[in-house]
Amino acid sequence: MQGQRGAQDSTAGSGGTDAEPLERGDEPLVVAEPDAFALLAHLVTSAELCLTEPWDYGTFRLVDAASRLAASMLPCSSGQDREFLASFLADLEAGKGGSTLDREQYLEFLRGLSRRIAERLAGRPVSAEVSRGAPAAALAAAQAPAPGIGIPTAAETLGQPPPAPAEVVLETIRSRRVTREFDSRQVAYEALRLVLEAGRWATSGGGRRVHPLLIVRDPVTIARLRAVTPGMFSSPPVVVVVCTDAGQAAAALIQLEHDATTMIDVGTLTMNMLVAAQALGLGACPVTSFSHAAARVVLDLPAAIEPELFVLLGHPAAPIRRARPARAAGRAAAALPAGFAWWERVGRAEPEGGQDAEFAAAIPLDGEIPPV
Ligand SMILES: Cc1cc2nc3c(=O)[nH]c(=O)nc-3n(C[C@H](O)[C@H](O)[C@H](O)COP(=O)(O)O)c2cc1C
Repeated sequence: MQGQRGAQDSTAGSGGTDAEPLERGDEPLVVAEPDAFALLAHLVTSAELCLTEPWDYGTFRLVDAASRLAASMLPCSSGQDREFLASFLADLEAGKGGSTLDREQYLEFLRGLSRRIAERLAGRPVSAEVSRGAPAAALAAAQAPAPGIGIPTAAETLGQPPPAPAEVVLETIRSRRVTREFDSRQVAYEALRLVLEAGRWATSGGGRRVHPLLIVRDPVTIARLRAVTPGMFSSPPVVVVVCTDAGQAAAALIQLEHDATTMIDVGTLTMNMLVAAQALGLGACPVTSFSHAAARVVLDLPAAIEPELFVLLGHPAAPIRRARPARAAGRAAAALPAGFAWWERVGRAEPEGGQDAEFAAAIPLDGEIPPV
């Protein structure tokens, strides 16, 4: 029984001697009720999203659900179960950040997990670990700490000429990456206000702004929102819900059902806030993987207000990683990847007779754009 299994002392670890096969009996609960409900919500909202999201998200959502279940079981477990769960959870977490697009590698990772859980079910010795290979490497690379958050500090610029304003803006844009793990600090009101203000100045179709922002800081509401948001991987201190107000849209003669402009406006507004957050040293992540039906309930939204996107905001748990070229790389960073932009006609990779260098020289970063 679960309780008896839990009481056993394990010296062999997850790779050691036979454990007791798992069978039904008078086991105690292994997950606390709030966690069980949150997982239930995660599963049904993930099922809903599977019909609209890229197909490979589905397998990821299942692995993520398994990871959430293992994390919820861990505090309730002891002995061999605890050891197994801790190592299984570590495997899940290490591998789930890998790209599902690397099909072979991901399959290898899933097979390892399947093998291990089957061994545990049957009470056989559990293989030491899942092959982590590329997924773990990709995750480690993605999480590598990086110097410099937003505007360079005095120390960073010491010994260098101060960056020109254009370079500060461009570097803020270049160095921004999404943050998915936050520490426990709250976002200061003034910083939050500056982020919201940046959103306010975003370009919008016809200047008809119909996207009120709902600021959520209540941890209970955020926890509930997370339960119905498979795309929210941790609880931030602030969630800014970008909404569409159907009433405002009707008053502005916008035909929401035909007009893509409003969704573009959600994007421009969001991007301004993300860049402002980066400039302020905050972490942010846009999130659209949530159940609209469930979010409406959690947020108690009136019928005319539709939640479109969440911006998670907070202080990054780890320094914001910089996967883009550093400022020192300057001009090199301006080089565009193949296929990113065409010149004058589809497929032309460079401006006529031009090199990147000539283009950069014609429009100096700190200078004015020459008249044509
Ligand atoms: C419209 C949109 C929806 C997104 N939804 C989610 C989401 O639900 N969960 C999440 O963790 N990231 C989400 N992201 C973040 C992207 O995954 C991220 O921006 C992308 O991987 C590029 O990373 P970067 O912003 O750090 O360059 C979303 C981004 C956009 C633009």
